[in-house]
Amino acid sequence: MKNKEFFYLQYDKVNWQNQEKTKINSFIYNFIIQNIVFKKKGDKIKIFDIGFGIGIFFQMLEKNLPKFFKNITLEGCEPSYKNYKNFQSKLLNLKKVKLRTFNKTFLQTETNTKFDFLTSIYVSPHFAFDELKGVAKKISSMLNNEGKFILVVANEKYLEKIKIKKGTFH
Ligand SMILES: C[S@@+](CC[C@H](N)C(=O)[O-])C[C@H]1O[C@@H](n2cnc3c(N)ncnc32)[C@H](O)[C@@H]1O
Repeated sequence: MKNKEFFYLQYDKVNWQNQEKTKINSFIYNFIIQNIVFKKKGDKIKIFDIGFGIGIFFQMLEKNLPKFFKNITLEGCEPSYKNYKNFQSKLLNLKKVKLRTFNKTFLQTETNTKFDFLTSIYVSPHFAFDELKGVAKKISSMLNNEGKFILVVANEKYLEKIKIKKGTFH
């Protein structure tokens, strides 16, 4: 079995910045924003992105959320130092959003904020099987009463493998 660190250390070797040019995940980010996030009622919103990579989803949230929400909190974790640093060098308009990021794995991250949404976009297969129960519990503990977990996977078979059932996170 691979070390748990392998799952993020591999990203220190990847030229992940190309994602900025290819905009490869923009369709899915846009889908989440338009069809799920914009449906949240009220003028406050809090989102935590697990494994935010180089932060392109954050950039899209920063651009789109102020159309509907006044009080915006974004938090997220990214354990790969290379990805994390790459995101840090980007300018988000911090007058529009409150931002807090952690250069840590999800299980190492500590925050007391309760979120409306937790997102895991192409990250879940990076959790080792013996971490999954802890990850599910942590996700549940970080959501507020109406909160939703948004899981994006590249291959549906992964869901069968980890036996995710409806209601697992509530
Ligand atoms: C395929 S990338 C997806 C990045 C981003 N979510 C996106 O949409 O572009 C997977 C990311 O998960 C991160 N990752 C790996 N293990 C992790 C862990 N235990 N906790 C949080 N993130 C992790 C990696 O460092 C990498 O940035």
